[in-house]
Amino acid sequence: RMSSALPFSRTPHPHPATPDRIAEVLAKPGFGQHFTDHMVTIRWNPEQGWHDARVEPYHHLELDPATSVLHYGQAVFEGLKAYRQPDGSIASFRPDANAARFRSSARRLAMPELPDEVFLDSLRELIAVDGRWVPDIGEDSLYLRPFMISTEVGLGVNRPAGTYLYALLGSPAGSYFASGVKPVSVWLCTEYVRAAPGGTGFAKCAGNYAAAFVAQAQAVERGCDQVVWLDAVERRWVEEMGGMNLFFVFGSGESARLVTPELSGSLLPGVTRDSLLKLGRDLGYPVEERRISTEEWEKKAESGELSEVFACGTAAVITPVGRAKHADGEFLIGGGQPGPVTMRLRERLTAIQRGQAPDPHHWMVTL
Ligand code: COI
Repeated sequence: RMSSALPFSRTPHPHPATPDRIAEVLAKPGFGQHFTDHMVTIRWNPEQGWHDARVEPYHHLELDPATSVLHYGQAVFEGLKAYRQPDGSIASFRPDANAARFRSSARRLAMPELPDEVFLDSLRELIAVDGRWVPDIGEDSLYLRPFMISTEVGLGVNRPAGTYLYALLGSPAGSYFASGVKPVSVWLCTEYVRAAPGGTGFAKCAGNYAAAFVAQAQAVERGCDQVVWLDAVERRWVEEMGGMNLFFVFGSGESARLVTPELSGSLLPGVTRDSLLKLGRDLGYPVEERRISTEEWEKKAESGELSEVFACGTAAVITPVGRAKHADGEFLIGGGQPGPVTMRLRERLTAIQRGQAPDPHHWMVTL
């Protein structure tokens, strides 16, 4: 394999988890609750650029309380998964796409770009020491969480911070929603917005998620599982569901076609979203990226022309949406049941990720 210019120092954990402990965690991983034995860190400063790459035992970070990220939120992250393959090797799904989006997010937050090959090497370094934390074939995987924060100390805001820390964590992941693939209900939120034109919606930055919690809580208060975000200007064009992209299935059987909201700059360009556009085409469905309004959604769900809606993302893969609610009422989609196109796409995508179906786009990358 190509090795990046950056050498990694490796400090093995003095007391790594026992095989019994790992088996115990992997039996019921949940999401984001357990972490592997090691982590990666890489530093950046203007003089040296990216340097001091390390694989070390998982540890706390010590930050001066005046560290810039704690006040002004210069923080970006990624999420991708490592899957056990039938031959026992470990592969991840389109890590190059996450590396590119990580650079794009960093640019928007005026942070330095981590070269793609260093991003990929960091994944390989972690898997090399913590591969035994990748679950065996099945629905589960090892969620990888790369992130970057500003570490400069000082409260000035006239220029971006001058020093940064990149880190990578690994966390065994089961199904993201406690209910598995059961359809979720959504609240069409017109009070709060996630992102505005010219803002940070396309970037995977911490602040986008911070701004979402209050709306998610409102959705739960209204008896729904998840919030659906609408555009900031007209509060009418569908953007995302919680931290996931949305797909709409019009028609059914031979005449089914897929529609997903076009990337407006305020939507996150999901890797799963992009992959499903390609997979949908491979399976013979016409696919379209365009605007879709809440009125169209409701009207066509009621007439039956809109047969299925699902959300997609790395963490929860594909989740059917069965019911939608807004200030003036609520409606079902496809009778509230998971639809056949949704389940077909889900099965095909997860089969590719688990090395159980052909991978015509060469999405799987051995780590
Ligand atoms: C996703 O993978 O769909 C997410 O947005 C993950 C979430 C935990 C931030």
